[in-house]
Amino acid sequence: MKKRRTRKAKSTPKPGAQKDQPSDEVLAQPTPEEREDKWNLRPRTFDECIGQRPVVEALSIAIQAARERSEPLDHVLFYGPPGLGKTTFARIIANELGVSFKGTSGPALERGGDLVSILTNLEERDVLFIDEVHRLPRAVEELLYSAMEDFTVDIIFDKGAHARIYRSRLQPFTLIGATTRAGFLSPPLRQRFGIVRELTFYSEDDLKKAVHRSAGLLDVPIDDDSAGVLARRSRGTIRIANRLLRRVRDYAQVKGDGRITPEIAAPALVLEGVDDLGLAPLDRRLLEVIVHQHLGGPVGIEALAATLQEEVQTLEDMVEPFLLHMGLLARTGKGRLATEKAYQHLGVERVEKKARNRAQRELL
Ligand SMILES: Nc1ncnc2c1ncn2[C@@H]1O[C@H](COP(=O)(O)OP(=O)(O)OP(=O)(O)O)[C@@H](O)[C@H]1O
Ligand SMILES: [Mg+2]
Repeated sequence: MKKRRTRKAKSTPKPGAQKDQPSDEVLAQPTPEEREDKWNLRPRTFDECIGQRPVVEALSIAIQAARERSEPLDHVLFYGPPGLGKTTFARIIANELGVSFKGTSGPALERGGDLVSILTNLEERDVLFIDEVHRLPRAVEELLYSAMEDFTVDIIFDKGAHARIYRSRLQPFTLIGATTRAGFLSPPLRQRFGIVRELTFYSEDDLKKAVHRSAGLLDVPIDDDSAGVLARRSRGTIRIANRLLRRVRDYAQVKGDGRITPEIAAPALVLEGVDDLGLAPLDRRLLEVIVHQHLGGPVGIEALAATLQEEVQTLEDMVEPFLLHMGLLARTGKGRLATEKAYQHLGVERVEKKARNRAQRELL
């Protein structure tokens, strides 16, 4: 039996809620998931989904095939920078499969028992989503191997000489893992995912579509030029486009008549601190440190992190991918380099290293 959630079941009023509501109105109430998705502006189906065409196409085929064979979908791994849609895609997959979605994350699964209780409660073909799957503790990760491959899990009772192992059979399920760092996954785990997909930065066109879609959901009027301005400054990321849209909507409401026009969008975005390539203050600071303090590089990531007082991981996961994508930064064996485009963008003239060194020596 398919377990697609019916609105009716989920919309039953809680005790204490209005008792005399007509039943059709009760049915029309959004489920908590629908309310959350609306707040997050999350698409619920592939049709609503913007961009990432190769991923959408491959997944649609795999989902249709699995449904026709009445089998669970193969395990899926999504990787890519934050905010590009890993969680969104995982939810869409469960929705398109017509099964329940259970979500957790690597760091939340501290003990093997935490994972075992989730696994043994899964129903046939359910989706289990593990965010930050590269941060699973080793012992928990090892439990996943047999769960993914044979749908079994070994439960150990007692310790030492009295230890007994009980092999529990699980319902066939689909694991969806998400990570910003595919390289940090151990090979045995990585190899157990049958579908591995990278989510990439969105094009300006796709971001524009996303801005129009979100503006429609938020009921805020916006013209095409303003949507283009927001799209260009969204760092290739729909989450950022949505965030900027909400801030510009506030600005339009307070300083204007509620409509978003280029005259409203421009000053609102200046307030947000994003520049015309969409770089946030930390992006610019990273480039400035390379250009001004390291003569354009190469400079090691640890040195950059120390100067910027940031974690290396923050720079690698959140800052560098977009700068590399935009061709503002280059990675070499010796460290990071600011490109010619970075100099142009910062409006700084490149001083050749030799000339600078000579000038410094003369000064001394
Ligand atoms: N393809 C898409 N079409 C429309 N909106 C999208 C799409 N992908 C993501 N979004 C929007 O972007 C927001 C962020 O997406 P999501 O939370 O799935 O990113 P993520 O990759 O899981 O990020 P993180 O690595 O931070 O967990 C969502 O709330 C949704 O509104
Ligand atoms: Mg996520």
